[in-house]
Amino acid sequence: MRRSLVLSLVATTLVACALDPTPTPTAQKGTARALGVYTTNLDPDLERQAYDALARDAQRREHRFLDAADPGHLARSIRVEQSDLEAGAHSPEEIFQLGAQIFHATFTLEMGYGGKDLPHLARFHAGRRGGPDAMRCDSCHWRGGPGGAGDAADNAYLDGDGDRQSSALARNPPSLVGAGLVELVAREMSAELGRAREALVARAKAEGKPARGPLVAKGVAFGELEARPDGRLDGTSVLGVDTDLVVKPFGWKGHFASLRDVVEDELNVHHGMQSTWLVAHGDPARVGAFGGTDPDGDGITDEVREGQVTALVLFLAMQEVPVTDTPVDQDHVVALGKGEARFQALGCATCHVPSLTLESAVYSLPSREGGAPIRVDLQKDAALPRIAPPFDGGPLRLYLYSDLKRHDMGPGLAEREADRAVRPGTFLTRPLWGIARSRPYLHDARAPTLEDAILLHGGEAQAARDAFAALSEPERGELRVFLTSLTRARRLSVP
Ligand code: HEC
Ligand code: HEC
Repeated sequence: MRRSLVLSLVATTLVACALDPTPTPTAQKGTARALGVYTTNLDPDLERQAYDALARDAQRREHRFLDAADPGHLARSIRVEQSDLEAGAHSPEEIFQLGAQIFHATFTLEMGYGGKDLPHLARFHAGRRGGPDAMRCDSCHWRGGPGGAGDAADNAYLDGDGDRQSSALARNPPSLVGAGLVELVAREMSAELGRAREALVARAKAEGKPARGPLVAKGVAFGELEARPDGRLDGTSVLGVDTDLVVKPFGWKGHFASLRDVVEDELNVHHGMQSTWLVAHGDPARVGAFGGTDPDGDGITDEVREGQVTALVLFLAMQEVPVTDTPVDQDHVVALGKGEARFQALGCATCHVPSLTLESAVYSLPSREGGAPIRVDLQKDAALPRIAPPFDGGPLRLYLYSDLKRHDMGPGLAEREADRAVRPGTFLTRPLWGIARSRPYLHDARAPTLEDAILLHGGEAQAARDAFAALSEPERGELRVFLTSLTRARRLSVP
């Protein structure tokens, strides 16, 4: 019975999508053309979930044989054209599965992995050119489930001399849960700040004298801005965001506004896989100095085509949202409630703002080729569990535990130097959703436990840290129980 269930699951996942535009002879005979490494589905029945995971594992193994018999089969299976995506040739589910395949693919030299002037693998990056330091995205993003965080051993060492750890900036791979919603909430915040700026400019012009006012987005205060009557701006009192007022929610220091920006950078620095767009627009310090359409000089052009960037971005945008878990033990349920109240009382919630409202969960990716934007409704199409409207009505809420603002965290956490103009001790408030599944903690993975992470807070968080340190051991336990409830849904997979 079990065996037949597995086989029927294999059959359903095999027909789930057919994305390889140049089918191999075997594929034409009816064999799957896409790996379907994982889907947006999440069966609440754990036994069925386990069978499904085994079925997909069986399918992946079969594809490895196919690739051995017909080299390039796997590389061809992750090709997708932007024009097809823009024409709506693939459903959101197919795009998700294709993006998952790229995320779980092993990049090879034939596909464009690495560069002529780079070693095959390097632990410490050479400037903005990167390592490369891994063959796959999921080498680093795996802990806690697909698209998860990384261990300390998966740290990336950015912007170094290519040789010494001490020359580089250590960064732990963050979890990618709910990434599309994070971008959407940041976009809405940027728009709100932009409107405040426009209003100040208009006021200064109308009154013929400087206009000064607070910058607030979704209840988070970003300091003040002054507009002059001639339209010039004084941003010296802007706090926690660049003076362009664009909230950048990705990267430990808040460097990237969009998933597309971060994906293009990740492909380049970790894998030497250069998108056609980055090749056309990136400066040589980032993409290499060989020029033309092959700036990394490895003889491969169009290493990552626009359609593949789009599929990867939409796959990340459709990542599941974390959940809160409730303990079975009644004493722990009580502790959880007390811990949540303590999180507020200690001042943690001033930066780790428990929830932010979201006006729309439709992720729209503008075309860079003059076509129509591609839209995915994350309430309908994202991987389960998805964001859902509250039972009592009201706006959508993202239980992110972040203000998406940068803060000074004091000399203890400061890096050796500024990173792309963000000061050494300044970091973005890391979202705490799903935190129970993303150890170790902090930007360089220096904290093995949640408690270590809290005790290492300084700077603007010094008072909250000291208040935590002053708690009795049982009181600290309550806060730990609360943080442990911020977790991810149980998703069985065969690695
Ligand atoms: C060697 C490990 C490593 C590999 C491989 C890797 N990443 Fe990352 N990733 C990181 C680190 C470290 C960061 C944080 C970078 C920073 O703070 O500047 C990150 C950040 C991200 C982010 C932003 C998340 C956030 O919330 O800040 C995304 C999205 C992402 N990676 C996607 C990818 C994709 C897609 C791939 C494959 C193309 C990939 N990563 C490969 C280590 C890795
Ligand atoms: C002033 C703003 C601020 C306050 C207050 C604050 N934090 Fe943080 N928190 C941050 C920032 C910024 C980071 C990322 C720091 C880094 O990586 O070096 C962070 C990181 C964390 C992390 C690690 C996250 C990860 O994924 O590695 C935990 C856990 C955490 N904070 C819990 C707390 C708790 C509990 C409190 C209250 C006792 C608190 N924080 C108070 C800003 C703050």
